[in-house]
Amino acid sequence: MNVSIFSGSANPLLTTTTAQGLGISVGQVVLQRFPDGELHVEIQESVRGHDVYLIQPTSPPVETHLLELLFLADACRRAGAASLTAIIPYFGYARQDRRASGREPVGARLVAELLQASGIQRVVTVDPHTSALEGFFRIPVEHLSAVPVLAAAVQASLPPEAVVVAPDLGAAKLAERYARVWQLPIAIVHKTRLSGKDVQVQRIIGEVRDRVPIVVDDMISTGGTIQAALQAVLAAGGRSEQPLVVASHGLLVGPAHERLRGLPLGRVLVTDSVAQPASPPWLQVVSLGPLLAEVVTRLHNQQSLSDLLTHT
Ligand code: R5P
Repeated sequence: MNVSIFSGSANPLLTTTTAQGLGISVGQVVLQRFPDGELHVEIQESVRGHDVYLIQPTSPPVETHLLELLFLADACRRAGAASLTAIIPYFGYARQDRRASGREPVGARLVAELLQASGIQRVVTVDPHTSALEGFFRIPVEHLSAVPVLAAAVQASLPPEAVVVAPDLGAAKLAERYARVWQLPIAIVHKTRLSGKDVQVQRIIGEVRDRVPIVVDDMISTGGTIQAALQAVLAAGGRSEQPLVVASHGLLVGPAHERLRGLPLGRVLVTDSVAQPASPPWLQVVSLGPLLAEVVTRLHNQQSLSDLLTHT
């Protein structure tokens, strides 16, 4: 297989799991900082004529991980890679897909331009915050979904009389997808964001009384959205026996651990799109490695990805 896989510092474990699924090893890279703080990257093996896959979520620290990815791409392109695919399991800046007020950049669009400028020819990502992301690129973007792997991880222990809860209007489509798999009703929480880490619930659409909530979202950042939604659902009569939280991306920054620990939760399930250095007992991490290995195999063999993609 003329395939090379490299990773920056964002998620070496997921890269290794993916490479193991392909029966190859991860390419050696030296990432170092010059005394003035500049990043320097050097790949340690030939990629000439290879299909190169760079696996790097742009998770916190976002700028570091993004720059590593751009430098790796440039290094591989200049070293003669035949094709260059960036697998960005968590795509940072996707939430900045428009200007909310007048004097802001459209961050997602700018990041897309940077990735293309670095020589990346195709992007693979998982449950990006907005599917509009694709429109910012001229190169192909494949949106994978973590819903099947996360839904399967919950399926065997689905609480009876449950309800799938979208913690905001933006998560309604995602909630529908889980509800279809689990054959459950859905409820939607109408939230207003007060600041980067605080939100307020306005009302709940749908029936939650006497049902165990399973709150689903694309990401948990500070945990404010999940906390507010779960508290509102329980206050509206939802059952507090082992509610679940399921999210594609566990950023878990700032007060997230403290907030989630303080809730009457059974489990929080996330994928390993973002590396999880801490593993508290309430957190279950489901690996995307087998899915990414399957995607690399199919791309390499020019096979369809259609059943793995999200069409919303
Ligand atoms: C927002 O629309 C997203 O889908 C998430 O709900 C949000 O980013 C989560 O952030 P936090 O955990 O800080 O509330």
